[in-house]
Amino acid sequence: VPEFLLLTGCKQLVTLRGSAPRCGAAMRELGIIKNGALLIRDGRIAAIGSEAHVKRAARKLPPKDRKRIRELNAQGAVALPGFVDSHTHLVFPASRAEEYELRIAGATYEQIAAAGGGILSTVSKLRKASPASLRQRALASLTYMAAHGATTVEAKSGYGLDAPSELKILRLHRELAKAQPLDIVSTFLGAHVPPPEYRDCPDDYVELLCRRLIPQVATAHLAEYCDVFCDRGAFTLDQSRRILTAARACGMGLRLHAEQLTHTGAAQLALELHAASADHLEQINSDDIRALAASDVTCTLLPGCCFHLGLQHYAPARALVEAGAIVALATDFNPGTSPTLNMQMILSLACTQMRMTPAEAVAAATINAAYSLGRADRIGSLEVGKFADLALFAVEDYREIPYYFGVNHCTTTIKKGQIVWNRR
Ligand code: NIG
Ligand code: FE
Repeated sequence: VPEFLLLTGCKQLVTLRGSAPRCGAAMRELGIIKNGALLIRDGRIAAIGSEAHVKRAARKLPPKDRKRIRELNAQGAVALPGFVDSHTHLVFPASRAEEYELRIAGATYEQIAAAGGGILSTVSKLRKASPASLRQRALASLTYMAAHGATTVEAKSGYGLDAPSELKILRLHRELAKAQPLDIVSTFLGAHVPPPEYRDCPDDYVELLCRRLIPQVATAHLAEYCDVFCDRGAFTLDQSRRILTAARACGMGLRLHAEQLTHTGAAQLALELHAASADHLEQINSDDIRALAASDVTCTLLPGCCFHLGLQHYAPARALVEAGAIVALATDFNPGTSPTLNMQMILSLACTQMRMTPAEAVAAATINAAYSLGRADRIGSLEVGKFADLALFAVEDYREIPYYFGVNHCTTTIKKGQIVWNRR
């Protein structure tokens, strides 16, 4: 039997209908419907428009279906497509609050990593952690993400760095996808940093990834994408190329942590390999901007990192948008550089620190992020036929979501037509 939900009373229904991805001036066209409504049938949008239009569509249903319609009045809220958080390190065992204090006292992220902290300290804890404890922590994070308006979350492995621990994380991604309502897109980041066992021979680890782990992960369908952290202290450009080429040969999509701490040429590598996304991009130059803008590679910006690390040099979002690049935004939720799971805060940082307009930031956090995950045909905008993934915010205008920063405006989150979060 079909299930129906009629959502009425949206002061602004921000649809992002039309072409995907959104680039340049089109990023500022959000397709807003004033006093909008939405009819959901079996988890998908069946009608959307003015309240009169949608109610007319509901009245045309056969009487037995009409009786099944549940109504939800948004009471003047602003409705957006659910946020697509397209870059997270969801599964980790503990915070690194002690490093937060070290950085406040003046130590840099790279100094802490070189002294044995950083990613490797999380790795040693994760290897000892039980799947149950990791599961519980990740479930709590996903609940928080839903409570802040996210409906799809990309999740990277990368705190295991050996076969059993990486597989433990990837299997957990699969389990989490079944255990709670948000969609999870799994990414293999076995190439986060070389593990301690391969400190003096990182190329041997690269070989292990290319010959054993990547084929194993691909064959077991444990990850849709493969990612590499290409930077000083992580993997070189040449190693990154080898890893990503092996992943592509196994049918995986490609993503890249590129040009975050130093300029390595990773953005150009993303172009060369037709990666789905190049992420971070704080250090890109004008040649990179021009080349990225002419490509199909999504530029996923992660302003939570600069904010949390106290750095002034954010990625050049304005130049990328104006050059016509596909720009997306994500939290980069992780214990080292960006311990936030609140996409609303990311919008505030994008606007205030990177001078994106609120409209551009919304497009980047929804339809463009969906595009980077190969899902723009199903999610990221509110259009007939797409999944009914949306979030309601208790503001009068969508611009107030980033404007009133640092608090949660989300009152209701709907995933495939089901209410998965409600403030009351
Ligand atoms: O996206 N840059 C590499 N990886 C993460 C940080 C991971 C960590 O510090 O635990 C990032 O910033
Ligand atoms: Fe990251």
